[in-house]
Amino acid sequence: MILAANFKTNHTRKSTAAYLEALELFLDASPAGCDIRVYPPLSALLRADLYSHTKIGAQNFYPAIEGAYTGEVGAAQLNEFDIKNVLIGHSERRALLKETQEFIAQKFAFAATQGWEIIYCIGEPKDVRDSGFEAVAEYLWGEFDGIDISYDKLAVAYEPIWAIGTGVSAEVQDIAKVLDMLKDKLKDTPLLYGGSVNADNLSSIISLKSCDGALIGGAALDVANFCKLIQIAQK
Ligand code: PGA
Repeated sequence: MILAANFKTNHTRKSTAAYLEALELFLDASPAGCDIRVYPPLSALLRADLYSHTKIGAQNFYPAIEGAYTGEVGAAQLNEFDIKNVLIGHSERRALLKETQEFIAQKFAFAATQGWEIIYCIGEPKDVRDSGFEAVAEYLWGEFDGIDISYDKLAVAYEPIWAIGTGVSAEVQDIAKVLDMLKDKLKDTPLLYGGSVNADNLSSIISLKSCDGALIGGAALDVANFCKLIQIAQK
């Protein structure tokens, strides 16, 4: 089971340090028995090797070791923090930062050469969802163009775009249908759900047979809330 907190553009270095300290104390007292990951903003990265229960990951990177990529962060910069896991393909980067499938595939291939763990995000917009399951399936498989699904450090997060940050999660039976379809092809790759996960819906989502965890935004911003979600997963 993977529970991952995506901070997006929230928290500072100071508040991230306090968050991780509280999270580690909580996990010291009650080990999660699952894979806990936190993705702070790049400016708030802390040395991943200082934390024993939590993996710290990068929300973004440029697919190069270093070089002339103004404003970007490459492997040399992430290595300094011992970061070994990354998010790729989040819908906010696809939509707001105009990352194309081709560029996303480049990032994926680069991350794989670095041996990083990857949470690869996919998800359909509302109009596709409204067109029915076949349309959703076709859209989602399109987001695997150029992606090596046999990469062994891969987890896939299914995050319907219309469910992200809206407070409206997808219906559990719809999540089940998509995750079962993905599991059929992706076999042993862990599958996460993301999109308005909270303390009320987490349990029914992670109980699904093809669900191996959750990628959580808003409900994980407060460390006490994230600990509560971990407690729910522990049950
Ligand atoms: P949310 O975000 O939990 O706030 O909907 C999830 C995500 O974007 O990963």
